[in-house]
Amino acid sequence: MEQTIQNNPVSMPRIGDPAPSFKAVTTQGDINFPADYSGKWVILFSHPADFTPVCTSEFMTFASMEKQFEEANCKLVGLSVDGLYSHIAWLRTIQEKIEFNGMKNVAVNFPLIEDTTMEVAKAYGMIQPGESTTKAVRAVFFIDPKGIIRAIIYYPLSLGRNFDELYRVIIALKAADEFSIATPADWNPGDDVIVPTAGSCGTAKDRMEGKEKDVKCYDWFFCTKKIDKDTVMKKVLNKK
Ligand code: BEZ
Repeated sequence: MEQTIQNNPVSMPRIGDPAPSFKAVTTQGDINFPADYSGKWVILFSHPADFTPVCTSEFMTFASMEKQFEEANCKLVGLSVDGLYSHIAWLRTIQEKIEFNGMKNVAVNFPLIEDTTMEVAKAYGMIQPGESTTKAVRAVFFIDPKGIIRAIIYYPLSLGRNFDELYRVIIALKAADEFSIATPADWNPGDDVIVPTAGSCGTAKDRMEGKEKDVKCYDWFFCTKKIDKDTVMKKVLNKK
């Protein structure tokens, strides 16, 4: 969809859209996105600038959780409008000098895209002129194995992201797909899940009469069931 902000056409991909495709240079070599990630979940995220403190704390946190995301078949891909040599120098500095929240000597092994032309940032609506015309906001795109955008979160420049929440989003999206359920407010694996609302009077009646095994209905439209944490995590982490 094209939107106009300050008379500039700004592209804003939406949930359910195919992730805009691009080729880019990264700190881990060239990538062809999202084709190179077919069959995997991806978190594509932007940060405002290299050599800035909030971004540094975010990269250290994300890098330290990379294995956890990998186990969920989810790859991480970062982007800023800085150039490749800036990215390399910044990531080296992080590993050599910075300590944060008990983390140190942190190697960032996921790709960081150079986007000096802002081509990718603009295609993903990461440049939000009301916030900054020269830096990307902290955008997070959750892209599924078919290359479809499944969730989007935007944060302003001043606000560091909560990476446990980003992990929760991936697990919840995968759980929704695997179990055909929805997840209520503040859901975490092991909490009750929401059974999709009855789509017919017959189903509503059956549910209220307790005919659906293991489903608890408070009213016809609000029904939950238990899926224990082990069952959720085994399925979403694809463990036997
Ligand atoms: C930071 O990462 O610290 C930052 C970057 C841009 C604007 C404000 C803060």
